[in-house]
Amino acid sequence: SAPPSHDLLEIAVEVAREAAATAHRMRAEGVSTVATKSTVTDVVTAADRAVERQVVDALRRARPADAVLGEEYGPGGGGPAGPGGVRWIVDPIDGTVNYLYGLPYCAVSLAAEVDGEVVAGVVRNVVTGEEWTATAGGGAHRAGTRLRCSTETDLGQALVATGFGYDPARRAHQARVVAELIPHVRDIRRMGAASLDLCLAAEGRLDAYYEKGLAAWDLAAGGLIATEAGLRVAGLRGRPAGPDLVVAAPPALFEPLHAHLADLDADGGP
Ligand code: IPD
Repeated sequence: SAPPSHDLLEIAVEVAREAAATAHRMRAEGVSTVATKSTVTDVVTAADRAVERQVVDALRRARPADAVLGEEYGPGGGGPAGPGGVRWIVDPIDGTVNYLYGLPYCAVSLAAEVDGEVVAGVVRNVVTGEEWTATAGGGAHRAGTRLRCSTETDLGQALVATGFGYDPARRAHQARVVAELIPHVRDIRRMGAASLDLCLAAEGRLDAYYEKGLAAWDLAAGGLIATEAGLRVAGLRGRPAGPDLVVAAPPALFEPLHAHLADLDADGGP
């Protein structure tokens, strides 16, 4: 049977700390792009690969029967799911472009799923060492403090973060959505790491966040942290949060933000 969520979180935190230390050290030693993936903006560094390998190895030692889904190595990274139904979801460095440029907004994101439900997650900023955690039903925390999302109720006063995918046509559509949304919110942020955007929304340092095209590893840990801090995390028109769209907003902001995003077809287009 599956272990308790707090046991999985304990493992996740230890592994994420070691991973963040490796990423930090490799950054200090100087990092270069080893490849571009889909486009010139979609980079992978040697650190992405080394950190993911380290995370997969550490998880295999701690829990040999579990499956691992990782950004750089894909679903085959950790072998078949074991009898406990546990699958780990790892983004070795979320915010790779920030990492490459030495901008302090990049993170290791690690989540544990049991039977398809995310039950534990940690996001650790590689540069600042800030660390957010959550277990399903157990709340979200940073530095021992329980997190609560923003209490803002007026979308016009809300600071809303978003992100752009890598596909050029999708980016153009996303830019049009942003252009139309700006007059209705306080301002927009595009900081470059989805997991951290969700964590900042969890503690009210951002009011809300939305993005189209997120992968499972961008969303898993941060989505749980945001949910446990009181944000509503969902897609448009009753759909669950997923690659089509993730909207994370406090209950009072969800409907008005949802209405604009639905009008603007934010989950449509390329
Ligand atoms: C990206 C970042 C970015 C978001 C992209 C993600 P990566 O992750 O989270 O903020 O806009 O959708 O792909 O590629 O740096 O791990």
